[in-house]
Amino acid sequence: MDNEHHQRGKRPRRLRTDGIRPLVSETTLSPRDLIAPVFIDATTEERQPIESMPGHERVPLDDAVARVEEVRETGVEAVILFGIPEEKDETGSRAWADDGIIQRATRRIADETDAYVLTDVCLCEYTSHGHCGVLEASAPEDAHVTVDNDETLALLEKIARSHAEAGADMVAPSGMMDGMVGAIRTSLDGAGFEQIPIMSYAAKYESAFYGPFRDAADGAPAFGDRRHYQMDPANAREASREVSLDVEQGADVLMVKPALPYLDVIADARREFDHPVAAYNVSGEYAMLHAAAEQGWLDLDEVAHESLLSIKRAGADLILTYFAETVAEQL
Ligand code: PBG
Repeated sequence: MDNEHHQRGKRPRRLRTDGIRPLVSETTLSPRDLIAPVFIDATTEERQPIESMPGHERVPLDDAVARVEEVRETGVEAVILFGIPEEKDETGSRAWADDGIIQRATRRIADETDAYVLTDVCLCEYTSHGHCGVLEASAPEDAHVTVDNDETLALLEKIARSHAEAGADMVAPSGMMDGMVGAIRTSLDGAGFEQIPIMSYAAKYESAFYGPFRDAADGAPAFGDRRHYQMDPANAREASREVSLDVEQGADVLMVKPALPYLDVIADARREFDHPVAAYNVSGEYAMLHAAAEQGWLDLDEVAHESLLSIKRAGADLILTYFAETVAEQL
């Protein structure tokens, strides 16, 4: 390209002045795009700070409504609830108990606030072994632990129904069991909850970025790992298969998780499907920015905003993020 042509012609910088930048901005972030995770802990009467997730706490049931109101004051209207039960057992029975921690918290939040309440439908916080379902009878307690898919489906159906009965606005199954969306859809419809949507953790990877969450929710597997049910980080085409299976089974919103290391998967889901796409900016993505900011190496507000903007640019309509409140306050 000769210099003269370059000078008279193509100058992208023309559109970067302060006046025009907002008009040509391709991506915008709004507090209404964000969903804030909230941890409700049946084992405490006081708020407990989560060390690896600065600014986040496990809150007692009596503080659930206050916690949700704090979120709403920032302009974020949607929360996703995670529970820490009073006790755990082999099958995770506190996950579907009518007086379980999530059921009680959801009832109060639905009665006393205008928040939009999503609930995480999974067993890992509720099982004594920390896996996302019932262990196969033959599983040895060392390597190659695996979860009995179809027995677990029956439990996920009960959990989702109990959340809807308590007043959840949407359920979000995260256990990566085959057929979970269809099973939950049938169960909700059978109980008269045809109008309750399902946000499927459709492409959820077996990721090391969940570390801080597992401290927060006390849901780390006691042995083995989750690679027999969560996806291999090496695979993107497989994510399309996972997502299309969930679409066939009636998922309403498709989630990719984690977010930043999987922007290609978010972009593929956006291109290939017409459904709303959600992304989960997970605990490790939050913790690493905080750790660097604490060292003075990054500006936390700026990197948080840029992260969420990038996730939207990749194609996510909604973002579940621990930055929801702080970024909403900046907007
Ligand atoms: C499963 C669940 C997990 C997260 C959300 N739902 C943990 C896991 O799969 O180990 C992780 C979220 C995060 O890291 O922020 N109930």
